[in-house]
Amino acid sequence: MTDALDLVIFGGTGDLSIRKLQPALYMAFVHGGLPADVRIIAIGRRPLDTATYVDQVLGQARAFISPASLDDAAWQRFTALIDYVPLDAGQTADYLRLGHALRTGRARQVYYLATAPDLFVGICEQLAHARLLDARSRIVLEKPLGHDLASAREINRQVGRYFNESQIFRIDHYLGKETVQNLMVLRFGNALFEPLWRAPHIRSVQITVAETVGVGSRAGFYDHTGALRDMVQNHLLQLLCIVAMEPPVSLDPDAVRDEKLKVLKSLRPMTPADVRRDVVRGQYIDGAIDGQAVAGYRQEPGVDPASTTETFVALRAYVDNWRWANVPFFLRTGKRLNKRRSEIVIHFTDPPFSIFPDEQPRGANRLMIQLQPEELVQLQILAKEPGSGMERRPVSLDLDLHAAFTERRAEAYERLLVDVIKGRLTHFMRNDELEAAWAWIEPILHCWNGHGSRPAPYFAGTWGPNPSSTLLTRDDHAWSEDQID
Ligand SMILES: NC(=O)c1ccc[n+]([C@@H]2O[C@H](COP(=O)([O-])OP(=O)(O)OC[C@H]3O[C@@H](n4cnc5c(N)ncnc54)[C@H](OP(=O)(O)O)[C@@H]3O)[C@@H](O)[C@H]2O)c1
Repeated sequence: MTDALDLVIFGGTGDLSIRKLQPALYMAFVHGGLPADVRIIAIGRRPLDTATYVDQVLGQARAFISPASLDDAAWQRFTALIDYVPLDAGQTADYLRLGHALRTGRARQVYYLATAPDLFVGICEQLAHARLLDARSRIVLEKPLGHDLASAREINRQVGRYFNESQIFRIDHYLGKETVQNLMVLRFGNALFEPLWRAPHIRSVQITVAETVGVGSRAGFYDHTGALRDMVQNHLLQLLCIVAMEPPVSLDPDAVRDEKLKVLKSLRPMTPADVRRDVVRGQYIDGAIDGQAVAGYRQEPGVDPASTTETFVALRAYVDNWRWANVPFFLRTGKRLNKRRSEIVIHFTDPPFSIFPDEQPRGANRLMIQLQPEELVQLQILAKEPGSGMERRPVSLDLDLHAAFTERRAEAYERLLVDVIKGRLTHFMRNDELEAAWAWIEPILHCWNGHGSRPAPYFAGTWGPNPSSTLLTRDDHAWSEDQID
């Protein structure tokens, strides 16, 4: 069988293609991640020819490749792999033009749908109608996969009419991050952590994905979506799954995804009373980021001035199984927060008894897995302060992955695109995982809608509204930035 590949990108003129996909494909090309016989077919509605696409659209992608990796000769060879096909997803006749650009029969087709999700089903139907699908075809679906459980189910059902589950790659780029994949190695490649990785040795788990950016140019999309759907339903719950899952029997995609599914199904369902007590919903008002004044969410271009869309969510979740009984998982995400930081922090319990005469520092042991801005792993322990007494101070055992490994670290999109090409499904979401995540989120959405509740305001440049802190302090916890360092 030939490994000839046609990689078709719907949304090839869009922001995601320019900022992430094309730079990732260039890097994969330079580092041997693409098959020798590959064509990249970019699709958009704009009536461009290939030369103009390469010049005008792809030219913008160069700005998102690190200067050290950009080589003019390699760029020329990369752009020679590209064809642009103008196509309107709803126009049957346009798929004939696409058919001419593809090497059906001879090459395998991967279709990457980097478009709004309401086009997904129509594109699948049209591809099938134009006879551009076969058993070797694969499809990549970008988030958001639906707006609620019913729409996610419908996408799964309809896409499932044309592709079987092993052909469908639902992308969550957090699963492509080196540090997230490293967490699996940390947990399952070392015996050290496993005995402690459970109640009662873990006091809490915190997962934060904090952004300093505002809604930017995505207001039209974001104002109908909000942070719960945009971030919690996918990225934060996927990170929670990696932290909480049982050791899978192998790295086989279904073995891993079975374990993640069990975690999602073990999440304690939220009653309306739970939502009111354990979920904080916020929206930024004007403030300052890095000393620069920024507008509030409702003043952003394209946002409804009376919008109640949340730009911040903090919540407490419980994984109701033997390992995690009564260990709170605190999840938090927001825009216009104090720092750009994504991290998972595992807080271990304090020693059961202190032999030291002075007060034992609390919360001394924690494992911090930082995904952004730098990828690093830090284990905080107590050490004796030099001197005559037995004073103790927290110090970090730093796992400096950049110093330990000199190998190049591929960006998440590059790694995941290569996985798609090689047919490796482990780091992609299965249909039942997607639906279980929506099923858990939905009562929160219903409760917010039903009670006409409004998000609590927070100043841009802070860590969110005050109830986010009280969510933790009322049970004697604290977000990691408020803890000892
Ligand atoms: N941007 C990101 O960082 C990001 C991150 C994660 C997920 N996503 C998701 O990825 C998808 C694309 O996002 P984006 O930011 O790239 O959006 P975008 O900049 O608005 O681009 C949309 C793309 O879809 C094409 N398109 C729109 N209607 C079409 C139609 N009827 N037929 C064919 N093509 C059509 C557009 O082509 P023309 O412009 O040529 O008309 C354009 O290439 C969205 O679902 C988004 O939620 C985006």
